[in-house]
Amino acid sequence: MSEVTTAEFNEEGKYLRKVRSFVLREGRLTKGQAQAIEKNWDSMGLEYSPEAIDLSQVFGRDADTVLEIGFGMGASLVEMATVATEKNYIGIEVHKPGVGTCLMAAEDASLTNLRVYHHDAVEVLENSIADGSLARVQLFFPDPWHKKRHHKRRIVQPEFVQLLRKKLKVGGVFHMATDWENYAEHMLEVMDASEGYKNQSKTANYVERPDYRPLTKFEARGQRLGHGVWDLMFEKTA
Ligand SMILES: C[S@@+](CC[C@H](N)C(=O)[O-])C[C@H]1O[C@@H](n2cnc3c(N)ncnc32)[C@H](O)[C@@H]1O
Repeated sequence: MSEVTTAEFNEEGKYLRKVRSFVLREGRLTKGQAQAIEKNWDSMGLEYSPEAIDLSQVFGRDADTVLEIGFGMGASLVEMATVATEKNYIGIEVHKPGVGTCLMAAEDASLTNLRVYHHDAVEVLENSIADGSLARVQLFFPDPWHKKRHHKRRIVQPEFVQLLRKKLKVGGVFHMATDWENYAEHMLEVMDASEGYKNQSKTANYVERPDYRPLTKFEARGQRLGHGVWDLMFEKTA
């Protein structure tokens, strides 16, 4: 498996510090996670490289491709890929134990339509995904970075959503969900100001959770406690 980020230097060789949406926690792998990576990386892992990958070659077929950023432990990603076998799924996660758990579940489900990256999603999108190739991008419960001084670390920013737009097909959808109202408002503000997207909400803000997004345990608990979850879906128009 490759490094999670690529160091970047300027012409004088000085290290350029990037604002990233994550802080790496070197979590230890359980035996099961380590074995799942060892056993399944060759068939389901994608090594990061700065050239665009050929999706029909990677999946051995032509099908709509859904890309999920920050899949955590991968439970909902594996569930979606199990239900929608006609679609290709690519998951990207920087937290290695999450990659291990996801591969364990994917192996149990005998999935053939899922590939995963253990890398920074921004770098993968910038360099490894061809323009106009994705049917949907999913960003579920991204780190909310509660403190105001950390808001710059939120992954949803004008530049980031334009990067996604470049990678989506016309008619493709960027789907976000968050349980943090202030982040939902931030997402809406950024998307409303972004060129080339149309909000799919009839009320010009949020949408009902579509059936394909599984309700997570954490979310179901939140619902019982009366906490909100906001889904946003924007279509690429041009
Ligand atoms: C709050 S968790 C949510 C996980 C999962 N989507 C869920 O709903 O349970 C956010 C995840 O995004 C990952 N993440 C944050 N920034 C990322 C990036 N730039 N590339 C890949 N993964 C990222 C984190 O490691 C973390 O696992």
